[in-house]
Amino acid sequence: MLSSQKLRTQFLDFFRQKKHKIIPSASIIPENDPTVLFTTAGMHPLVPFLSGEPHPQGKRLANFQKCIRTGDIERVGNQWHLTFFEMLGNWSLGDYFKKEAIEFSIEFLTNSNWLGLDKNRISISCFVGDKDAPKDTQSAQYWKRAGIPTERIYFFPKSDNWWGPAGKTGPCGPDTEMFFDSGKPYCKKGPGKKFGSQCNPSCDCGKFVEIWNDVFMEYNKKANGQYEKLRQKNVDTGMGLERTIAVLEKKDSVFETDLLKPIFDSVQQLSNKKEKSSLHSQRIVTDHIRSAVFILGDERGIIPNNTDQGYVLRRLIRRTIRHGKLLGIEKNFCAEIGKTVLKRFKDIYPELEKNRETVLQELEKEEKRFKQTLEKGTQLLQKQIQLAKKENQKKLDSKTVFDLYQSFGFPLEMTQEIARENGLKVDETAFQKQLKEHQVLSKKGAAQRFTGGLADHSTAVLRLHTATHLLNAALQQVLGKQVNQRGSNITSERLRFDFHHAEKVTPEQLKKVESLVNQKIKEGLAVKMEIMSFQKAQKLGAMAEFGGKYGAKVKVYSIWNPKTKEVFSRELCGGPHVTNTKELGHFKIKKEQSVAAGIRRIKAILE
Ligand code: ALA
Repeated sequence: MLSSQKLRTQFLDFFRQKKHKIIPSASIIPENDPTVLFTTAGMHPLVPFLSGEPHPQGKRLANFQKCIRTGDIERVGNQWHLTFFEMLGNWSLGDYFKKEAIEFSIEFLTNSNWLGLDKNRISISCFVGDKDAPKDTQSAQYWKRAGIPTERIYFFPKSDNWWGPAGKTGPCGPDTEMFFDSGKPYCKKGPGKKFGSQCNPSCDCGKFVEIWNDVFMEYNKKANGQYEKLRQKNVDTGMGLERTIAVLEKKDSVFETDLLKPIFDSVQQLSNKKEKSSLHSQRIVTDHIRSAVFILGDERGIIPNNTDQGYVLRRLIRRTIRHGKLLGIEKNFCAEIGKTVLKRFKDIYPELEKNRETVLQELEKEEKRFKQTLEKGTQLLQKQIQLAKKENQKKLDSKTVFDLYQSFGFPLEMTQEIARENGLKVDETAFQKQLKEHQVLSKKGAAQRFTGGLADHSTAVLRLHTATHLLNAALQQVLGKQVNQRGSNITSERLRFDFHHAEKVTPEQLKKVESLVNQKIKEGLAVKMEIMSFQKAQKLGAMAEFGGKYGAKVKVYSIWNPKTKEVFSRELCGGPHVTNTKELGHFKIKKEQSVAAGIRRIKAILE
């Protein structure tokens, strides 16, 4: 069995034995979460449940989850960093807490029935405490009881030992991290050292490899920056699949694991280069194409464009093409490498194979598109770099930076990267200003969302979420049953709903839909939640997202009239919702448009 498959199976078996229910990997495009572009950890789809909503599968969950993190994109190319990775995780939603979580972790890592790692090579870090939360001496005690000596238990501040909220608000808490000693010597004093006077797990030198993180989510960060206790104490853990395999198999990098090696090999073969100096670009191509395939092939697939996730995708593909060029690959290669990715992952993520054609076509299209301007753009950039150097400038001319973006399709970050390689800076503020003037893209907004956050469950979002269910049901009544949800996105200002429908929705139809939603709001229908088996939900005709993945037990939200028992909308959904449609106000459709072949988009507000 492949190592990755073995580790996935072992992890899930272990937690199944500890009475956890296994849930599917969610989409990497978060739903109804205005604050993040991608699912960056297994806990994202679970935010409502960490905050107290009941989960249909119970209080103990585990899974492997596909994740995208682009915050560290500049570091990809080293041994450990990736923009796409898989995370193994277990959760307690108001059930067990520190003691059991730590006992589970040490048993899984060191017991010979499981990973059997040498306990003597494991170090631990815990939260040191500050004005928001006390020092986590409790976790340290449990580690000692588990056989980790005091000298290998470190205490670090929030920057290292606190997880979440990914954005401004939401569930978060102190964490305790597990590191495996790679066996390398302690580094001498160096820039990677963060805390303490000697090389330790807070150091970046590569001696200590972080393999697992147990987060004790008992806090909620509020919009004013203060922390309050959550309704329940949760555990959220994350183990990087690629890193852990590299550690278990004593590999020098994640690119040598069975997850990445076939892709890396095909890149190496294509570039026909074996020397060490090519490694950096080869790793970037390997990682970025894998990410691009997972974004394009997701059940809520995205195609390259200039906003939000589409922009990130574009950046990944274009950066790949640039590094392909550096490697001397002349022909179009993205789709070819993409095929290797599909082959490697299609059995575990069937959505990839389902979207195979789109994935390969879009890779090919984007490569053609960018190659038309890459050459000319590179010439312009080189000319300006020479000029700046000759004149002893520290910065690249701002007009050039913008032209590269606007006329030659160079993502800003790519220009920055090339500038940096030549010892030059880019004035980002000047770029943003020009961009705003052109109203192409509010990149700043995108960047903010990127560093992003957890779902904003403010009342506005709650109301729009319920309105989305009404809209979905109304569309089905007016346009027919074939209308199927394709994606939903809510900010505190508006809802956005994508659905399958072959033609434009006429103004008359839109009016009908709008009136029907407003009528249901006026009727003051109740919103009720029930947990039932997937089969029963299907029998009741509950709407489910096309291609969505569901466990054996699901949550079903119905919008109905308790007196007449008439149900207007019934949907599989994680919640939360308002309790009565009266709370919604007046519903107004602002826009209807096409977003892809056979997919329409409606934007609407509540007044
Ligand atoms: N959410 C935690 C992490 O990503 C477990 O590290």
